[in-house]
Amino acid sequence: MLGSGLGLVLAVLIASAGAARAEPQGDATESVKRGAAGYRVCSSCHSLQPGVHLSGPSLAGLWGQKAGSLEGYGRYTKALKAADVVWDADGLNAWLADPQALVPGTTMTLRGIADDQARADLIAFLRMAMAEGGVETVVKAGLIAERTAAGQIPPNLSTLGADFRISAIRHCRDAYYIAMESGTELPIWETNVRIKVDTSRRGPKKGAPVLMRSGMAGDRVSVVFSSLSELKETLVESCGPRSGAETR
Ligand code: HEC
Repeated sequence: MLGSGLGLVLAVLIASAGAARAEPQGDATESVKRGAAGYRVCSSCHSLQPGVHLSGPSLAGLWGQKAGSLEGYGRYTKALKAADVVWDADGLNAWLADPQALVPGTTMTLRGIADDQARADLIAFLRMAMAEGGVETVVKAGLIAERTAAGQIPPNLSTLGADFRISAIRHCRDAYYIAMESGTELPIWETNVRIKVDTSRRGPKKGAPVLMRSGMAGDRVSVVFSSLSELKETLVESCGPRSGAETR
């Protein structure tokens, strides 16, 4: 009797100590505001819109949920799925301090937020943002912009015009020769070309792979196909002048 009573007291003490660690210091409103500013780094990989999964899963409605439990996100690591962690103040505090330490092998590459106050501020914001319907609350309150809430969604490639569309592409020696629908053929060093597939609704249209420029100097490009089979059919090894383009 006495033993279990003491156990209960200890459990309560430990629980409240845990909560205190993640509790923001000072004015709660200021804390949430600072947390909202800090959330910007998260938005490069996460959306707060329900069901919108970027590189990381949507964070909508995850407050109080078990780690790795969203049905619609197929890229969880086994480690995160198996982790005995709940996304409340304590769980998030440990996760954001050092994701790799809490869940060894996780693919969330964030280095961790060492500053206790910065973590507490961020968690104060996440408590609102990750609640059911949280995205509306935080956008209406002016805490973050709608586009930050949406996350950094890649550009919509399905609506790009002929200037971006590729008619043929061949590889020869150390370069890709990319024939555009507009008629020009661009020779680009192979190391500067990223070959990608985007199967989402915002990906390129079937049969219309696109060329996107990136990198500071604009000398890097991404070639994006609508499917892997299209990529396999389109890429050929050929040193004949414009051979790919002429077959079209
Ligand atoms: C570079 C991309 C990236 C950044 C930046 C990032 N995350 Fe993540 N996050 C991920 C990935 C990927 C996963 C899934 C990890 C896994 O399955 O192991 C994840 C998982 C999570 C989860 C668990 C979700 C679930 O369904 O269990 C939470 C919570 C989370 N991140 C919060 C944050 C917060 C808050 C920030 C900002 C401080 C942040 N993340 C920054 C990529 C990122």
